[in-house]
Amino acid sequence: MGVVDSLLNADRDHSDFVYTIAAIAALNGLLFGFDIGVISGALLYIKQSFALSPFLQGVVTSSVLVGAMIGAATGGKLADRFGRRRLTLAGAAVFFVGSFGMALSPTVGWLIGWRIVEGVAVGVASIVGPLLISETAPPDVRGSLGFLQQLMITIGILLSYVVSYAFAPEFLGIIGWRWMLWFGAVPAAVLAIGTYFLPESPRWLVETGRIEEARSVLSSIRTNDVVDKEIDQIREVSKTEEKGDLSELLEPWVRPALVVGVGLAIIQQFSGINTIIYYAPTILSSIGFGNLGSILSTVGIGVVNVVLTVVAVLLVDRVGRRPLLLVGTGGMTVMLGILGLGFLLPGFSGIVGYVTLGSMFLYVAFYAISLGPVFWLMISEIYPLRIRGTAEGVASVANWGANLIVGLTFLPLIELIGQGWSFWLLGGFCILAFLFIYTRVPETMGRSLEDIEADLRESSVVGADTDGKAPDVEHPSE
Ligand code: BGC
Repeated sequence: MGVVDSLLNADRDHSDFVYTIAAIAALNGLLFGFDIGVISGALLYIKQSFALSPFLQGVVTSSVLVGAMIGAATGGKLADRFGRRRLTLAGAAVFFVGSFGMALSPTVGWLIGWRIVEGVAVGVASIVGPLLISETAPPDVRGSLGFLQQLMITIGILLSYVVSYAFAPEFLGIIGWRWMLWFGAVPAAVLAIGTYFLPESPRWLVETGRIEEARSVLSSIRTNDVVDKEIDQIREVSKTEEKGDLSELLEPWVRPALVVGVGLAIIQQFSGINTIIYYAPTILSSIGFGNLGSILSTVGIGVVNVVLTVVAVLLVDRVGRRPLLLVGTGGMTVMLGILGLGFLLPGFSGIVGYVTLGSMFLYVAFYAISLGPVFWLMISEIYPLRIRGTAEGVASVANWGANLIVGLTFLPLIELIGQGWSFWLLGGFCILAFLFIYTRVPETMGRSLEDIEADLRESSVVGADTDGKAPDVEHPSE
């Protein structure tokens, strides 16, 4: 069923309040996007204020990612202990305070420290937003609502670009990077106020024995006839489903899925998307665009990212995950090739400048219909239920870790080998990514999570080796 059909399905067993909850929970994604995107415009001015070397620019950019790794690694456990709602409120408070902290930083050390704190909230948001959405959404719209998080990430990035443009000193005269970073307090306040009115996840309430509270929450989001049935189901599942631990991830029959999840996490980052998300204005100003022109072009990149993510939402349940991933990484490879060539040719005037800018836009477009949303979707689909939470945590920590490596090394890499070769290196990586996806990543469209898990046990799809042979699999005795 297509996204729009399923969202508008009249014959449904839930109330519209489900959409309100999902929209508020997805504000976690908006803050995630804002915080990682805002540095791109702000960096142009921060580096002047503190006279930063390329390495220190990378550290300022990436410090948020160190925090995000900590947040993603602990978010699942914290959400189990304190509840999804309270954790979201705490995260919003950290976002709010952190925005003031960053804006008021007297030295670069303070700025880096506050960005790490803010990053913890970003990492937590990357876990708790999707959790709250998936635990309150009814099954028929769960997939579509799950995409909301990625859409909000891209909208958050776009918002950060627009704010950077509006607050650029060249535009408003007095304002600068401190105000850009401070602005994050606004969506943080909206998230806190919205979350205050949200109910707790019924699944968490049942798991912590608060059945009556769970019943009253479910009554507000489902039609009355399904409430008791759903409570029974949640109880049943949480009874049978003890949580698996890290060591289970290494069992031979799970390993292929682990490789796919962690592989896609690394690919999403090493394909270089955040070199553009963080550094587009820096790159553009280095080739002769003024500060304002660079930020304005970056706003265009943000718009392309949002629009193509919407296209991906519409396509993913029609054409499947694999075709999107293959077309996306193929297109990204070609665009990185052209981009690198643009930088290697002498002079950026006229047509070369436009072709380079155009290939940057198209590169982001290919990313947004593929690796952007499909990675987060697939890590929620390919793991067996028992270890899904832990395995998703591992994949997100790997994603933030890879993001950190790219963020830290990209500017020094440019210093070392130049922009042209740096983009070609990323292009070379995209070729490897294409081959990995072609040989290892299974199609999950239209298949129930149970079917995917059964396949994994048979090792027929996820487990196919690059040489086409199935790996040695010990089937668990059951
Ligand atoms: C990635 C981020 C990236 C964003 C760009 C997300 O899926 O995890 O690292 O900045 O997409 O849209």
